[in-house]
Amino acid sequence: MLSIIQDSELFIESLDKRHDLSFFSCSSSELNDFLKNDALSDQNNMISRTSLCFWKGELVGFVALIADTIEARAVIDGLEHYEYRKYPGVKIARLAVDFRFERKGIGTYLLLAAIGKTLSICENIGCRYILVDSKKNSIGFYEKNGFKLVEKYKNREFIPMYLNMQPVIAEMSLENNE
Ligand SMILES: CC(C)(COP(=O)(O)OP(=O)(O)OC[C@H]1O[C@@H](n2cnc3c(N)ncnc32)[C@H](O)[C@@H]1OP(=O)(O)O)[C@@H](O)C(=O)NCCC(=O)NCCS
Repeated sequence: MLSIIQDSELFIESLDKRHDLSFFSCSSSELNDFLKNDALSDQNNMISRTSLCFWKGELVGFVALIADTIEARAVIDGLEHYEYRKYPGVKIARLAVDFRFERKGIGTYLLLAAIGKTLSICENIGCRYILVDSKKNSIGFYEKNGFKLVEKYKNREFIPMYLNMQPVIAEMSLENNE
């Protein structure tokens, strides 16, 4: 069985009309359907942007991002004197790994790619959180990567989760100064 795939063997490309998506298959039919039928038109209509992940020329995963907000009262690491009802963020609208390639580090790689894209937004536009509405059985994956869940919505079918970009950026600038 193939173990963890090295990051150096993976690469990300923005979705465009030349990509063949027909062989992709993850464990969620809704996510397969999104990628094959809606991702490109949503992108053309400026609703979402999808990045594809390839390993040895094979499509192994994808992530789609949108602009979003989170209720200020939903987070536990908000600002003390924040006067607005919502915080700005980027949402992971869809993220999936082909079922044949699960648990090999590709989901984490896609998440880091999404965080990287969010960082470049943070440099230009106010954006405090990266957000996701997680399936129940994917909560552990996001928690391992530092996301917190919104306690008051933990019984929903999809549970809102968030990662504060401020400490991520602070840690990165510390590393850069070392
Ligand atoms: C959830 C998903 C994206 C994870 O991707 P992946 O490539 O399998 O995950 P990784 O190999 O990068 O795993 C990273 C870590 O998270 C853990 N992990 C992965 N999936 C997990 C899950 N469902 N629950 C708990 N932990 C999980 C791994 O064990 C690993 O931990 P480790 O570093 O301690 O070994 C993938 O399984 C998937 O596409 N599932 C179907 C679609 C889906 O649920 N998408 C999320 C929509 S919200």
